[in-house]
Amino acid sequence: MSEQPQPKTIGILKSPNDPRVCLLPKEVKRLTGELKLTVLFEPGLGSSLEIDDKDYVEAGANGASKESILKNSDTIVSISHTFSEVEMKGGCCFIGFFNPLFHDTKFETYKNNNATVYSLDLLPRTTLAQSMDVLSSMASLAGYRAVIKATEIYNGVFPMFTTAAGTLTPVKVLVLGAGVAGLQAIATARRLGAVVEAFDVRKSAGEEVRSLGATFIEVAGYTESENAGGYAVAQSDEYLQRQKELIHNHIRTANIVISTANIPGKKAPLLVETRSVEAMKPGSIIIDLAAEQGGNCELSKNKEVVKHHGVTIVGNSNLSAEIPAAASQLLSNNYFSFLKYKQKNENNNDDPLLTASCILKKGEWSHPHFTKTLQPA
Ligand code: NAI
Repeated sequence: MSEQPQPKTIGILKSPNDPRVCLLPKEVKRLTGELKLTVLFEPGLGSSLEIDDKDYVEAGANGASKESILKNSDTIVSISHTFSEVEMKGGCCFIGFFNPLFHDTKFETYKNNNATVYSLDLLPRTTLAQSMDVLSSMASLAGYRAVIKATEIYNGVFPMFTTAAGTLTPVKVLVLGAGVAGLQAIATARRLGAVVEAFDVRKSAGEEVRSLGATFIEVAGYTESENAGGYAVAQSDEYLQRQKELIHNHIRTANIVISTANIPGKKAPLLVETRSVEAMKPGSIIIDLAAEQGGNCELSKNKEVVKHHGVTIVGNSNLSAEIPAAASQLLSNNYFSFLKYKQKNENNNDDPLLTASCILKKGEWSHPHFTKTLQPA
């Protein structure tokens, strides 16, 4: 039997500086009805989406202050960290979207409070976890939003225009990293009539890129690992040098670069060097979705827009937050699916999804990243 008691009261907290909402009234109604949970919510939870508190009340939830929620809930759900130094119910469980492999020092406070913490971005990318896969939901929206954002900043047009006054050539978009965000960016840019090229270290991405009507740039000599769960792994210096040269030549001729390349828990690979930015035409744009993990572009600054040699560089890893209604709809389904799954499976100590997504269990490190890197050997 698991040591964790069955959660009875779920508290939903607002995430500071994030307009997205992790549970919408529709899913709250399922929590109170289907899962028979008591739900507390912080007033104003849905205000960024014009959702009134009364909609949550109609869904069966009760409004309560943050302090009261922390004191009285068995489980606290939010998007980012909402922890504060107020009294908490003993053994409280936190569920969020914390990027713990990269921001791993933020968990000491939870540990000191004997908390249990689940981070949904640690779920494996398997069929069983698909309905809870916050990474895919948010990456897909971010890829779309990156292209829309580029259209707002770019001073030209995306498709080819043939007019009596002459022909405007289509924009050239280069997508670096053809995972979930990259593929959505390719599809969106293609729909707008752009000529699209894409690069990814994973050979298997080539087929998907080509099926979307884009050209796949290949660099020979990539090492794949069967143990990486479909993710990219670090490469040799020789491969990286070859890659740099080829990518540099493609960046030079692109009007827009959308970079999405990441390796879980590691600094993002550097793909756009300063010399490449300086070789781009003035007015070109780089949207760097890997900015939070150090950025794919040498000049990116997370959450900032930088101008260099006439090139605009947007460093933003949270572009789904710029379309919060869509993001919240997907997140709400992801969170509900996880809560439902957890309620059904939490007595199984070997459950693959709960084990993979758990960082701390009652104040003890649970995830291998933490047991290996943060605890003395
Ligand atoms: P991610 O956000 O970790 O990385 C984005 C992309 O960057 C990946 O395609 C990666 O190969 C690429 N990348 C890493 N280093 C690079 C470099 N040096 N140069 C160029 N590209 C580089 O990945 P994401 O989008 O989260 O997807 C990870 C994997 O999981 C993919 O293979 C995807 O198809 C798979 N997946 C599987 C799902 C499932 O349900 N089975 C659901 C979602 C994703």
